[in-house]
Amino acid sequence: MKTPEEIFAEAKALVESADTPAAVEELRIRYLGKKGEVTALLKSMGGLAPEERKSFGMQANKLKQDVEALLEAKQGVLAEAGQGLRLAAERIDVTEPGRIYEPGTKHMITITMDEISGIFMRLGYSITEGPEVETVFNNFDALNAAPDHPSRDMSDTFYITEDTLLRTHTSPVQVRTLMSQEPPIKVISPGRCFRTDTPDATHSPMFHQVEGLLVDEGVTMADLKGTLDLFAKRMFGEEMRTRFRPHFFPFTEPSAEVDVSCFVCGGSAPSCRVCRGSGWIEILGCGMVHPNVLKVGGLDTDRYTGFAFGMGVERIAMLKHGIDDIRLFYENDIRFIGQFY
Ligand code: DAH
Repeated sequence: MKTPEEIFAEAKALVESADTPAAVEELRIRYLGKKGEVTALLKSMGGLAPEERKSFGMQANKLKQDVEALLEAKQGVLAEAGQGLRLAAERIDVTEPGRIYEPGTKHMITITMDEISGIFMRLGYSITEGPEVETVFNNFDALNAAPDHPSRDMSDTFYITEDTLLRTHTSPVQVRTLMSQEPPIKVISPGRCFRTDTPDATHSPMFHQVEGLLVDEGVTMADLKGTLDLFAKRMFGEEMRTRFRPHFFPFTEPSAEVDVSCFVCGGSAPSCRVCRGSGWIEILGCGMVHPNVLKVGGLDTDRYTGFAFGMGVERIAMLKHGIDDIRLFYENDIRFIGQFY
């Protein structure tokens, strides 16, 4: 049988060469476990003569404590080394350049709608919105469109059912407003519209408009002209002049299209890309609200008059910023959309 000194010397050598916590645990079991060598030594005490038992017992207990101390010390060393390894693996190089997160910007269409809305809000208009899926009644009939009006055609309009469609303009919001509000009415309505156009440089099946409606007692064409002239100057520059050209819309009478003086050539270049030498650029449609439309809202047309206007947001943004292809708005090429903020 090995002496306590022999067991300790052997255990010490083995513990020193153990290099993982699991190996140390194995040694603990080998020496101090139920069937361990040190445990066996302690158990063997029972067979000794009483006079031998005391000094042997002291030796055996000391051995047990020494081996425990050895194992504990080694576990401590290994745990510390493990921690060191983990820290080394998790090391962060604080001198590395940081990641750059580019801040986003508003889309040009949103910027332009906000700008248009802002001008009218400062004139006391409030914003109201209508649904993109509309009734045929609100989109056409209530707006005094003749039953055979060409824009009703399947080839121009996205129908959902026989009497619902994707609105072709924001004008149905006029109808909704007249049916739900009492004069004085002073609203603008920005939003998306849809037509079955094949995309090209100036057409898109989805586009945006801003609609305006003002109804009160004693509203005249002079109010319309003054309002839209002021809008054009705020939007395009104080030096801008406006021209009202007679036009036809079913929902206004009289109706006009509004042109602004060409801000590219000022009318001086016969070959101007923007005004084609005319000196004028069309920016919107407008007119005095047709009595038939006012009647849809149940208004007394002897008492109330009003004006309305509608403009294409893409068209205004393209004119203002010299953008020559409407499709650029929807491609989401960061090189394009990142230019505006
Ligand atoms: N809804 C017309 C269009 O999409 C634009 C328009 C013209 C709106 C005259 C109006 C208006 O409110 O009075 O072409």
